[in-house]
Amino acid sequence: MTYQRSAYDEAITSGQYQKVTGLIGKYDNVRRLWEDEVMRLFLQPYLERMLDRKIQRGEGLRILDLGCGSGDGYELLMEVKRGDTGLPSHVNVAIEPGLLEFYKGIDLNPGLIAQAKAIHGQHPNMAFVEGDFNELDLEPDEPYDLYFASYGTLSHNSHEQNARLLAKLAQHGRNGSLIIADWLGRYSYEWQTLWSNDLSREQWMDYVISYIYSEEERKHRELSSLTLALLSRRQVLAIIESARKQSRGNIRLRRLFDRSVLVGRHMDTGDYNPHAQPLRQRVNSLFEPNIRTDLEGLLLNYVPKDGFPAVNEFYAFFQSSWNALVGYVIALLGHYDAARASPQPEIERHHPRASRMAMAEMRRLIAAAHRSKMGDVRANTIEPSLGYALRELEMRLQRGIGCGHGLVAILELEKE
Ligand SMILES: C[S@@+](CC[C@H](N)C(=O)[O-])C[C@H]1O[C@@H](n2cnc3c(N)ncnc32)[C@H](O)[C@@H]1O
Repeated sequence: MTYQRSAYDEAITSGQYQKVTGLIGKYDNVRRLWEDEVMRLFLQPYLERMLDRKIQRGEGLRILDLGCGSGDGYELLMEVKRGDTGLPSHVNVAIEPGLLEFYKGIDLNPGLIAQAKAIHGQHPNMAFVEGDFNELDLEPDEPYDLYFASYGTLSHNSHEQNARLLAKLAQHGRNGSLIIADWLGRYSYEWQTLWSNDLSREQWMDYVISYIYSEEERKHRELSSLTLALLSRRQVLAIIESARKQSRGNIRLRRLFDRSVLVGRHMDTGDYNPHAQPLRQRVNSLFEPNIRTDLEGLLLNYVPKDGFPAVNEFYAFFQSSWNALVGYVIALLGHYDAARASPQPEIERHHPRASRMAMAEMRRLIAAAHRSKMGDVRANTIEPSLGYALRELEMRLQRGIGCGHGLVAILELEKE
């Protein structure tokens, strides 16, 4: 029989025949299991409430994805779960099949729009258009229920453009419509050298997508940059206030949260902070199957910056909670490795409640898991659980002040 090479060639050129790893790349473990999930978990109660109203009225859901790129927002939203229904997770999605009436994505980049069409083009109720969301004519479109601008998209705009855009969306939307607005945080530790106290000025950075290359490649490549705005809580509130005045409507801020505190992509590059530690790499490794992580490398050594007392205070608090949890897991593993010769380490009372809860959870889990013989329990059960526990810690301790890679607002329109 002749060797049938073409089937293999076809598979290779499809791009789907490669080894997939969650350690690097756009869709690394932190993106899929931390960032996307944090977005879903914060959004869940608001989306669920809105969907219940729509289901009662027999209406479908309409989504406008601003700066949709290759359409990743679709997957993010379609995998938001309902609150605890007791159903298995695959039948527990909030946007049930058939509930999505229409999804429209708009992006300035023709290559990304082509990619979005290639991925999602077969869905009859999805459309992707090339265009500028600041110039978007919404008149011909029915109101949307969800206006979604994710992953720093609004940092492409000036504050004035953002206020105008939010006002336009507020006028176009209906009562109960949600707007998700996402900026880069002004005080992310990733870019500590760029922090400034002058809030009267918009703060812009030259953002390089250097993290998709290896350290070696980064040294030799000439990379172009994007100009992106860095925002604080006060600046976001001012933008919303200005949009409210322009639209003469009621835009309610439901949540403002920091996403990716200390695990943003530029923690690994150190491009904008010589003190940054590669924590994203290490959290990626926590989630990665069959790989054991050097847990000591997860311990943070925050270097404060003079003149930023409130931000330094937040990071000092966050660091002590984070390190307490990581340190406790290291101690627990040491206890079991030593065949339980030593007493099980105690949870000290002085830690914040969120850390103590996470520690107690990890203690229960490790006590049960260490008896299991199912493969590498440390790499495949204990470490991913530590990843989820750290994610939970971020969600509980963040203050929505611009200390994460992302600063995200959930807004709701009140029109009646
Ligand atoms: C940070 S990316 C986010 C992409 C995507 N939403 C995701 O979740 O991965 C920002 C996107 O906004 C697009 N963009 C920036 N300014 C825009 C504008 N004025 N109008 C339309 N798209 C814009 C960029 O081309 C880019 O695809």
